Amino acid sequence: MYQRPSGTNDILPADQPYWRYITSRLHHLAALYGYDEIETPLFEDTEVFTRGVGETTDIVEKEMYTIRERPDESLTLRPEFTAGVMRAYLENGMHVLPSPVRLYSIGAIFRRERPQAGRYRQFHQFNAEALGEQDPAVDLEIMSIAYDLYAGLGFTGLSFQLNSTGCPICRPTYLEILKPYFRQHLDQLGDDDRRRLERNPLRILDSKHPAAQTIIEAAPRIVDYLCAECKDHFARLRRYLEVLGRPYTLNHRLVRGLDYYTKTVFEVWAQGIGAQNAMCGGGRYDGLIEVLGGKPTPGVGFAAGLERTILLMKEQHLPVPALPGPQVFLAYLGESAKQRGIELLGDLRRAGIRVTATFGDRSMKAQMRSADKSAAGYAIILGDVELERGVAVVRNLRDKGQQEIPFAELIAHLQGLLAAA
Ligand code: HAM
Repeated sequence: MYQRPSGTNDILPADQPYWRYITSRLHHLAALYGYDEIETPLFEDTEVFTRGVGETTDIVEKEMYTIRERPDESLTLRPEFTAGVMRAYLENGMHVLPSPVRLYSIGAIFRRERPQAGRYRQFHQFNAEALGEQDPAVDLEIMSIAYDLYAGLGFTGLSFQLNSTGCPICRPTYLEILKPYFRQHLDQLGDDDRRRLERNPLRILDSKHPAAQTIIEAAPRIVDYLCAECKDHFARLRRYLEVLGRPYTLNHRLVRGLDYYTKTVFEVWAQGIGAQNAMCGGGRYDGLIEVLGGKPTPGVGFAAGLERTILLMKEQHLPVPALPGPQVFLAYLGESAKQRGIELLGDLRRAGIRVTATFGDRSMKAQMRSADKSAAGYAIILGDVELERGVAVVRNLRDKGQQEIPFAELIAHLQGLLAAA
């Protein structure tokens, strides 16, 4: 038997209430904040990601699904939304729109990661970006969307992990202090971290290598080396967070896995859920649009992983509303009753009543068993006798009470029952 590819999921009917609930809340939340939806292709020119996300990131180094159909064409399944959304912003001339341009997307993302619980090769993100404004109030807005998303789903004990990653003015100075620091402690770094030392030393701060933890904790902190502009931005953001009463923890090890970040980076953590399983993350990326060929344009955004969110909702027993199932079940006996029933199914659906039947000409007992297993509250029972008398039996599947209703009154009768339920 064939199996789904490693790291992918079938989203079965039993899980659909979570997906429907979360996506409907996301559309609602985006509208509350004035974000417009944008859909970009599932794949882009590989360069959008190599340049956008950064050559030295795990994503670009080893996690992209790249297709080369022709020697001069390389396409990559999107390993994140941001770079593709920036490409669309530039290509469609959206920079002429009033700033900030606020965009959101929901869709599939692909990363060739080592699959494990909460880590997949195809997963889904909600992604929000605000472009064209440098004010830290916009960072706060993006962070608030993330916070409200999880608070609205019922998560408690929410707080931000917050850091600044500086900018091209102050970050190099910091790296020139960080690199020699780690060089002094080479023996405590793992192989991956040693490799990162020259290419992307900031990522060492994020290392899980057990022997490196003490030296990372004691490493120089970027917030002590920020330039005046970054320092001011960070201080104002913190003030705004305090105004809103949103709890945050400064986390000097939070650097995140994408190269485009400048200044603010953040994640939202909930009670009992830590760094291993970040529900969402984001930050500011003031240099990204320029890297992709646009005029310097500041931006800030975040993405939330939907599979992870659902896993955590289940872990925390957070409720979701059921999806609408059938309201009425049609059971028939005999060919004439079947034909009348087929007609009736159409009439009921046109009247907006959700109705189903087993078909297959099964025994009445088998049909009623299916009816009892369905979500329907009522069954319509049709046989030759009823047909002759121009009536149908309407049975309440909960209390088993039943009544004969003339065909002409059937729809109005059912509508009355369903409205009262
Ligand atoms: P990211 O931290 O790489 O950021 O991903 C955001 C979220 O996607 C994570 O917090 C996690 O919930 C989910 N996620 C990531 N990888 C996986 C995976 N393999 N399986 C399941 N879920 C996963 C970004 O993608 C940035 N583009 C966010 C952003 C937008 N920054 C600015 N604007």
